[in-house]
Amino acid sequence: MMRQKVFAVTGGASGIGLAVVQRLHADGHLVVSLDLPDKTHDPALKALGVQTLPIDVNDEASVREAHATIIETYGSVDGLVNSAGVIQKRQTPDKLSMADWDFVVNTDMRGTYLCCAIFGSHMAEQKRGSIVNIASITSTCGVPLHAYAPAKAGVLSITQCLAGQWGHAGVRVNAVAPGYTQTPALQAAIDQGDRDQALLIKQAALGRMVQTNEVANGIVFLLSDQASAITGVSLPIDCGWLASVGWETYGGLPHTKI
Ligand SMILES: NC(=O)c1ccc[n+]([C@@H]2O[C@H](COP(=O)([O-])OP(=O)(O)OC[C@H]3O[C@@H](n4cnc5c(N)ncnc54)[C@H](O)[C@@H]3O)[C@@H](O)[C@H]2O)c1
Repeated sequence: MMRQKVFAVTGGASGIGLAVVQRLHADGHLVVSLDLPDKTHDPALKALGVQTLPIDVNDEASVREAHATIIETYGSVDGLVNSAGVIQKRQTPDKLSMADWDFVVNTDMRGTYLCCAIFGSHMAEQKRGSIVNIASITSTCGVPLHAYAPAKAGVLSITQCLAGQWGHAGVRVNAVAPGYTQTPALQAAIDQGDRDQALLIKQAALGRMVQTNEVANGIVFLLSDQASAITGVSLPIDCGWLASVGWETYGGLPHTKI
């Protein structure tokens, strides 16, 4: 277990972010969950008793205000997890509006950069800190998500660029690349018929979806001093989805019976 530290988690009211909040809280740390204003009264967070603050990662003033409140309250912040994000409906480029493209890229890529820039610059001044961004298996391969995948490729690049920027200041910047993870966002896409759960599972070497606590485990490791020599990496937590991409060409994984 790490010594008690102060962690901020964007998107902390749901899915992967909530699992990170729960895990850090269980480990005895001070955790601030940052999410959209209508999510700050989330019952799961209330039950935990962790502090919640409103944030909109698309709005610079809102991110600055949340950061200032945390510094005012705790004096410093040791770690940041950027889990605020949206997923995208599968659409061909002629159907995908630029308004939707901007919304996804702004939230997932610009929002991640903005939070890194504001929290990370302060960490660099205090000469310590650790940031974990949420990339995706789609950061490194083509899929029919023409806004989401480029945004997640951008998150990977942001992670690498900022790792170089702040390494000498003692700030590590890493990412996790989750595969298909059982969260409210993905479940909604499955329920709406926009994703087929059987197909999501088919290509995973482990033959199942990822659970949110499994992503949280990887994030907490990267945040911790146990990862003290690790910066600028993206850790796949994908039940072996990326490792198995090439098998499709040879008829699929043995257990998929295609
Ligand atoms: N679920 C998956 O399969 C999967 C796979 C790879 C990556 N991811 C990424 O993980 C992250 C979390 O996704 P999730 O599946 O847990 O989704 P989720 O919808 O369960 O949680 C996302 C949270 O982000 C918050 N949020 C959205 N827009 C925001 C904004 N502008 N400002 C502040 N908060 C905002 C939402 O309110 C929500 O609480 C996202 O970046 C997503 O792209 C998810």
